[in-house]
Amino acid sequence: MPHILILNGPNLNRLGKREPEVYGKDTLTDLEKKLFQFAEGVQAELTFFQSNHEGDIIDALHEAEEQYDGVVLNPGAFSHYSYAIRDAVAAISIPVVEVHLSNPQAREAFRHQSVIAPVARGQIAGLGFEGYKLAVCYFLNNNK
Ligand code: DQA
Repeated sequence: MPHILILNGPNLNRLGKREPEVYGKDTLTDLEKKLFQFAEGVQAELTFFQSNHEGDIIDALHEAEEQYDGVVLNPGAFSHYSYAIRDAVAAISIPVVEVHLSNPQAREAFRHQSVIAPVARGQIAGLGFEGYKLAVCYFLNNNK
């Protein structure tokens, strides 16, 4: 069974309180519980990690290479400007799927560019929590 790291970046620990009109009322714990239940049903093993710090996300990506079959990454606002996270994604051999709860293309102009997208296996945006499930399905169907 694939072992997948669900890696959430800055401010995603504020889900439920943060701009609920954009991100909904569910908390990060709700998201993790729902994904955990989903993963049990489809035979995937998930590990969850959230950090507000760029370096921690980079370390988690480096360490992921030895431990996981893939990473589902929501880089939060780092998506739009962190070349360091982009380089970390490019520096590991396991696939990374970029996920966004909201649809950045339908929001402010500064969100329209993702510097991560060119080095990600793919991107899922605007589908809320469903996007994470779809990313897990990708790894189930393409295990290595
Ligand atoms: C986000 C979109 C980003 O633009 C924003 O900075 C976030 C969340 C999303 O999941 O929709 O923090 O990544």
